[in-house]
Amino acid sequence: MQWGDEGKGKIVDYLAGGFDAVARFNGGSNAGHTVVIGGEKHTFHLVPSGALKGKQLLIGAGVALDPVILRRELSILPASVRRKLMVDGRCSLVSPFDKELDAVLEQMRGSSAIGTTMRGIGPAYAMRALRLALRASDLLHENNLHPSPRSSASWSATIKFYSRLGIDASNFSSWVEDSRSAIEGLVGDVGERIIEIKQSGGSVLFEAAQGTLLDPLYGSYPYSTSSHTVVGYIPAGLGIPMSEAGEPLGILKCYTTRVGEGPFPTEIAGPISNLVRSVGHEYGATTGRPRRVGWLDLVALRYAVRLNGVKNVAVSKLDVLSSVKEFKACVAYRYLGSETRDFLHLLGHLGEVQPVYESPFTMKDADYNSGLPPQAKKFIDYLQDALNVRVSLVSHGEERSRTIEL
Ligand code: IMP
Ligand code: MG
Repeated sequence: MQWGDEGKGKIVDYLAGGFDAVARFNGGSNAGHTVVIGGEKHTFHLVPSGALKGKQLLIGAGVALDPVILRRELSILPASVRRKLMVDGRCSLVSPFDKELDAVLEQMRGSSAIGTTMRGIGPAYAMRALRLALRASDLLHENNLHPSPRSSASWSATIKFYSRLGIDASNFSSWVEDSRSAIEGLVGDVGERIIEIKQSGGSVLFEAAQGTLLDPLYGSYPYSTSSHTVVGYIPAGLGIPMSEAGEPLGILKCYTTRVGEGPFPTEIAGPISNLVRSVGHEYGATTGRPRRVGWLDLVALRYAVRLNGVKNVAVSKLDVLSSVKEFKACVAYRYLGSETRDFLHLLGHLGEVQPVYESPFTMKDADYNSGLPPQAKKFIDYLQDALNVRVSLVSHGEERSRTIEL
């Protein structure tokens, strides 16, 4: 519900127990979803976070698939994970040439660089829009998405395009061969599979990547990612009817972080942000970059609640604020002398607004060892009131066990 990194990995792993399958519908290996079990840290980029619960794993057509990264990710997981994985044939592939293009574009932007993860995600979706991207099914000798299986001749325009941009794509065919073996036996129709699972009485958890405010249409464009992060993308990203998209659970962190460039109204600097970063391990799970830290932004969150139609939320990282004396929540933005609670109204001026804060309580020394402490109860009441949602899950530590259902 914010700028990503709200703790989706942990929450998805926790919830996956109650589902038969977990399906990713957006993003690519720019995502970093962390799951900690018994002190051991697992970071997923493409594999859905239900992998460690032995669930069926689905990667929908809306995902930009980097076959090389997928292979690397699967190689450190038990072999059973690969057997449970299906990748949609319509997934656009991310190539090393897209990564090069990502770097070239960032350099061209100079001081207005986005601070992308450099995983080639923007270029891959752009290549899809240009009808130049290869799809997973293109690597199969036989498939039902093309009138006749595509031959290497059919991607000569793709190679020419990279060459025009000055990107050396002479080893394109070796990348294709490498990718073919990486996804061998994994390709199928994810939308159909979801419908089958549901028709036989099963259930599927849909896992998003990134956050609402990084959506390329509804977030802080151009400082956004390149695939849709809002709930509305679920049916399109998976190939299922809207009626099968279910009810969203919004995930938010009790403070805010952002990695990469772009406006961040509640950003804080100095000792408090350093403390939060170190206690909360606020470093990008994909790039290792230190995350920018800020206070809870209720103006932005109300926008995310409305846009996604969220009624239930999970709140993460409450334990981190046990180490911080102060607690602040931004209740309005001040801009050109007046105050507003309307995020959309100021979306184009996010870099210039002044946050108006409230400090209704502190969470310092809240102890979660014997259930929900009074400080957390106050926070939950406050949040429910401010956002008009129900808090149904609280996470107060990395481990699965550090979760409270309400
Ligand atoms: P890209 O998605 O790599 O093009 O990066 C675009 C912007 O989205 C940058 O600010 C990234 O830091 C941010 N971003 C992309 N993926 C994630 C994520 O999974 N979590 C948080 N930020 C992300
Ligand atoms: Mg992350």
